[in-house]
Amino acid sequence: MKTFDNYSLRAHNTFGIEARARRFAEYDSIDGLRRLLGEPFLHIGAGSNLLFTKDYDGLVLHSAIHGTEVIAEAADHVVVRAGAAEVFDDFVARCVECGWHGLENLSLIPGEVGAAAVQNIGAYGAEVSACIDSVEAVETATGREVLLPRADCRYAYRSSIFKSARRGELVVTYVRFRLSKRFVPDLQYAALRRHVEADGLSPEAVSPQYLRRAVIAMRESKLPDPRVTGSAGSFFINPVVSAEKAGLLARDFPEMPTYVVEDGVKLSAAWLIDRCGLKGFSVGGASVYERQPLVLVNRDGTATGADVLALSRHVQREVLARFGVTLTPEVNIL
Ligand code: EPU
Repeated sequence: MKTFDNYSLRAHNTFGIEARARRFAEYDSIDGLRRLLGEPFLHIGAGSNLLFTKDYDGLVLHSAIHGTEVIAEAADHVVVRAGAAEVFDDFVARCVECGWHGLENLSLIPGEVGAAAVQNIGAYGAEVSACIDSVEAVETATGREVLLPRADCRYAYRSSIFKSARRGELVVTYVRFRLSKRFVPDLQYAALRRHVEADGLSPEAVSPQYLRRAVIAMRESKLPDPRVTGSAGSFFINPVVSAEKAGLLARDFPEMPTYVVEDGVKLSAAWLIDRCGLKGFSVGGASVYERQPLVLVNRDGTATGADVLALSRHVQREVLARFGVTLTPEVNIL
């Protein structure tokens, strides 16, 4: 176990923003984690969905529980257990190599396995929860280990029990993925289908390696390279409005993209922000990214958390004033 006092979190958030933790601790076993429990804490992964607006006057925890192993195997699937600290995209690459399928559309998403299960990361028509068998966690109040089958994790769009009803009560230690040995490409997402068609491929000709490469190419074409430009990916979630509200908007903006979902109609936050003319708009060192306006960036490395926060509030105000739609941050603002 490693602990540090007055520790810089700049390397622990993909926005690349300077903030300090009163104490920072990294553990590599469940016993190590148990020894750190007992005071309030903030648990982080790779910091790819975090915005620090001030120093954190408390304990910041980070898992260093690594390792992947097959724990069950049948003719058509495997169950693979991965430590919370595994880099999610390295895990996806390994699964593609091993012929374990289901995660291809989630290629190149930044972050670690534990946070992926907390946030229910998603992209290109897929969500990680579809491949989760169960989640191992430690209860912070008791130190007890628990195993939550997927149905108990209350997965929804970018949400889970770990982020909602039991926020702060459970620390994810391992995630068990159920992956198929049979590959069926998931080409539901229109832009992905168009990419495949443009390459002259029929769905039957799509291999797992090709699908991973296609997703990586699409992400690289619109999202900033985290090694160069700080960001936390999409800053807001796509808003879901009532069918009635969507109908009213469609009358005024017939070209507005809409997607019918279980609880209403999902709108494209990127489109709403774009239509407010906000691409490139800046506050201090923070800007609305030109190629994907749902992403706010630390343009040249000089942005403060306050700059990004002020920019996000400006975006929210403009979208509300023009469309009457409230944008909710996806990023955890601290
Ligand atoms: N659009 C514009 N202007 C632009 C860019 C996009 O109007 O400059 C509109 C277009 O209509 C486009 C639509 O936005 O069709 C959707 O854009 P995109 O395919 O990039 O998807 P998104 O809904 O903006 C979501 C996820 C991303 C994920 C992509 C791809 C959320 C909050 N974001 O973005 O996830 O990579 O789909 O599946 O659901 C993340 O969560 O950090 C993230 C990057």
